Amino acid sequence: MPAEELILPWKGAGMKEFPVDSIRAQFPSLGVTDGERTRTYLDNPAGTQVPQRVSDAIARFFKTSNANLGGYFSTSIAAGDVMFSALRALAVFVGASSEREIVVGPSMTSLTYTFSRSLGRMFGRGDELIVTRMDHDGNISPWLAMAQERGAVVRWLPFDQDTWRIEPEALDAVLSDRTRLLALNYASNLTGSINDVRALSAKARQAGALVYVDAVQYAPHRLIDAPSLGCDFLTCSAYKFYGPHLGVLWGREDVLHELYAYKVRPLTDTLPERFEVGTPQLELLAAATATIEHFEWIGNLFGSGADRRARIAMAFDALCAWESELARRLIDGLTALPGVTIRGISDAAQLHLRVPTVSFTHSSCPSAEIARRLAGLGIFVWSGHNYALEIARSLALDEEDGVVRIGLAQYNTPQEIDKTISALSALLAPHSEHHAVSARQAEGSLSTN
Ligand SMILES: Cc1ncc(COP(=O)(O)O)c(C=O)c1O
Repeated sequence: MPAEELILPWKGAGMKEFPVDSIRAQFPSLGVTDGERTRTYLDNPAGTQVPQRVSDAIARFFKTSNANLGGYFSTSIAAGDVMFSALRALAVFVGASSEREIVVGPSMTSLTYTFSRSLGRMFGRGDELIVTRMDHDGNISPWLAMAQERGAVVRWLPFDQDTWRIEPEALDAVLSDRTRLLALNYASNLTGSINDVRALSAKARQAGALVYVDAVQYAPHRLIDAPSLGCDFLTCSAYKFYGPHLGVLWGREDVLHELYAYKVRPLTDTLPERFEVGTPQLELLAAATATIEHFEWIGNLFGSGADRRARIAMAFDALCAWESELARRLIDGLTALPGVTIRGISDAAQLHLRVPTVSFTHSSCPSAEIARRLAGLGIFVWSGHNYALEIARSLALDEEDGVVRIGLAQYNTPQEIDKTISALSALLAPHSEHHAVSARQAEGSLSTN
């Protein structure tokens, strides 16, 4: 049965049903099988599948525009256009007014190491920076290394284990007049919860600190409007939002101008050139433009005539509603399984405070075993700490075994969720029996003689 016939209650404002079959048709890898076995991609927070147009753009680049930048001949001019178009498209995607505010690099982590080195130059001994217990290590380790080099003091910002978010009062407790930087995430890659970056940035800026936001897990699911957040830097990774393996950084133009740039001498001081570390991955930039066009294509399914940014916004309205319904179905299914504990927001009334990345543990079955057995059924999920080491530690989880993480994307369907819940129910049944016995023993309701 086509997925559209099993459509979930639509919550969009007067819009038509979510066209998941049309969206799925854009992604050739969704039809690939392992022998007879279909693939169910629920590993999305670690990287999504890509639409055909994204792979086509890479092939087209190599055929038509494959040259280095700055020459007089046609392929070099075309390569320059590829670069400019990508920076433009990424600027629109994050809400920036100018492509001068966009820097690209191999990954979010490598960009963060690069920028931590530049930012480190403004740190004196005893200056302070704040990192969180909620972040992926890509937004922690670069700052720890910089702090060690500069003799800076690291303050740790905890998340609230009831609300699953960073509460403003917790920030108050670690801010001081020596704070120079706050590094925090927009959404967690383990719990899925979304932070109130606007409120947290305002506090940090009031204290005179710069704010560096990791929006890697937010970008696939919600519209980013970087300049309105009050932060100074925001990063994301195109491979998490249906694009190529490319990191993207938005920075406030005045801050990027002032910041020390580690660059080769022939490069000019213009933006974003002064932050170009060697030749850019031009074929991936071509793919990045196609990725943004994919979001515009989705927006066009819901309206027409709007400008580029408005089309992307329409796409995210639709995606957010669809993915929230899928998340609700997944959370409901997981909640009904004995022995399962969801590590994140599970209240249906609070789904707007999370992205559809849902992690759980089981009382007696290790996460790795669950992920391995699901893989055997063609259901792809991740287990472990997922580089959110500090969350695993804060929750006192077995650090290596961590959680089972199911991450939904725009192409997932209710049927895939139902199939996953049934598979979990079957594979956890023997453990559930064990769980029920232990629970009864704990309540003292079993005879012990
Ligand atoms: C929240 C978050 N931040 C940072 C990263 C690192 O991104 P990259 O692989 O582009 O370095 C990831 C990757 O999983 C992530 O989920």
